[in-house]
Amino acid sequence: MAGRLAGKVAIITGASSGFGRGCAVAFAREGAKVVVGDLQEAPSSGGFEADAGHTTVEEIRAAGGEAIFQPCDVTNRPEVDALVKKAVEAYGRLDIMFNNAGIYRGGKLFHEFTEEELEACWTVNVKGTWHGCQEAVKQFMAQGDGGNVINLVSTAGLQGHPRQSVYNISKGAQANLTRCLAIEYGHLGIRVNGICPTYAKTALTRALFDDKDFDSFFTESIPLRRWGEVEDIANLAIFLASDESSYIHGDLIRVDGGETLCRYSV
Ligand SMILES: NC(=O)c1ccc[n+]([C@@H]2O[C@H](COP(=O)([O-])OP(=O)(O)OC[C@H]3O[C@@H](n4cnc5c(N)ncnc54)[C@H](O)[C@@H]3O)[C@@H](O)[C@H]2O)c1
Repeated sequence: MAGRLAGKVAIITGASSGFGRGCAVAFAREGAKVVVGDLQEAPSSGGFEADAGHTTVEEIRAAGGEAIFQPCDVTNRPEVDALVKKAVEAYGRLDIMFNNAGIYRGGKLFHEFTEEELEACWTVNVKGTWHGCQEAVKQFMAQGDGGNVINLVSTAGLQGHPRQSVYNISKGAQANLTRCLAIEYGHLGIRVNGICPTYAKTALTRALFDDKDFDSFFTESIPLRRWGEVEDIANLAIFLASDESSYIHGDLIRVDGGETLCRYSV
């Protein structure tokens, strides 16, 4: 397949639903061979997928692309190790590690959150990304010709938000993990960047989307006056995964309709 990612091999974690799924389909359309790593093969319930009756791999293959599924819990080190090994076994190498899998906990003030909720966000969002980065960097170093890490962070990693402190704490750590890696491995040609969306329409935010008060408050506060779409994130992800972004490194790029510019509305 010709395209902006022709010949590249990409792992995307959490790619059965939401951003990961949209990015997997987009990457394959651009010629990448995609390894979908997720807890489950079917999309999460409550999402906005128009094609929810099909798995990501089925979608990609139906469009003539190449993809395989590997069950993977990113919190489990041996499973992440096996995910990288699967990519190499199936497609010969790894070019792009996209650490996208993540969970959300919100709707409470700081003093109301439980330690379990903090632990859940920390384990999936931080430790999961840590595992993916470590295994990918090791593979990239063994290959000896660079590599590309993309971490799905959030504007929650760049600022505070009310009623989701455990999530913001984990995203802040993920953002700094991205910066640290960029400093340590840039000289080996291993690029590391983060994508920082605001609220976008996926299963993860379905309850917020369905909350009419939140919906109108949020939409009014965004200069572009709309929720993010999966395609908004996929378009940036393709650019970061491609050689077009070859001098962009250690960046945390906002895809937020202007959310982080100002708290006030005109
Ligand atoms: N949707 C938003 O508004 C938004 C905004 C900013 C950042 N994010 C981030 O984007 C990423 C993707 O979220 P989404 O909105 O597409 O959510 P989603 O719920 O639609 O998809 C998440 C996917 O990750 C998988 N997953 C969850 N835990 C996993 C684990 N331990 N191991 C492997 N896979 C796991 C799920 O099965 C699911 O397929 C997350 O890191 C999230 O924090 C989302």
